[in-house]
Amino acid sequence: MERTFVLAKPDAVQRGLIGEIIKRLEQRGLKLVAAKFLQVSTDLAEQHYAIHKGKPFYEGLIRYICSAPVMAMVWEGPQAVTAVRQTMGATRPTEAAPGTIRHDFGLEVGRNLTHASDSPENAQAEISLWFKPEEMVDWKQSNETWISGNN
Ligand code: GTP
Ligand code: MG
Repeated sequence: MERTFVLAKPDAVQRGLIGEIIKRLEQRGLKLVAAKFLQVSTDLAEQHYAIHKGKPFYEGLIRYICSAPVMAMVWEGPQAVTAVRQTMGATRPTEAAPGTIRHDFGLEVGRNLTHASDSPENAQAEISLWFKPEEMVDWKQSNETWISGNN
């Protein structure tokens, strides 16, 4: 089953939206397999967003991610990467579809509430950057077959 890495960014934490974000992913049928609440160090932020180094918004992005705590999570399910990106919406909240988190709670690209991995390969890299293997919880969701069953 596919896994993806998700962050409730500092603005989501400060605005009391952690529960809302988790609620939407739970309602979608995805399964939470790891979570932690932490203050991100500059070092971790730079590793996480290394791909954006040199872009005009890079310095501001690092400041943003380190500006308050974040909730880091791993979610699992069929096509979890695509499903979560869809629930988050487009990067720019004003381009995100109504019903997505970024549309429903956001206005500015620099305060877009969430991060989600953009490919299964990047998901694996991000999960190992943020979590130790022993922090992943292997559990069976009792309604799993009603969400992702193949009968
Ligand atoms: P993430 O899930 O956070 O990686 O967002 P994304 O994959 O939808 O977008 P991308 O990886 O291209 O950009 C990473 C983050 O940088 C975005 O989520 C924004 O917070 C920020 N960002 C991207 N483009 C801009 C921009 O043009 N201006 C500003 N201020 N921030 C930007
Ligand atoms: Mg991205």
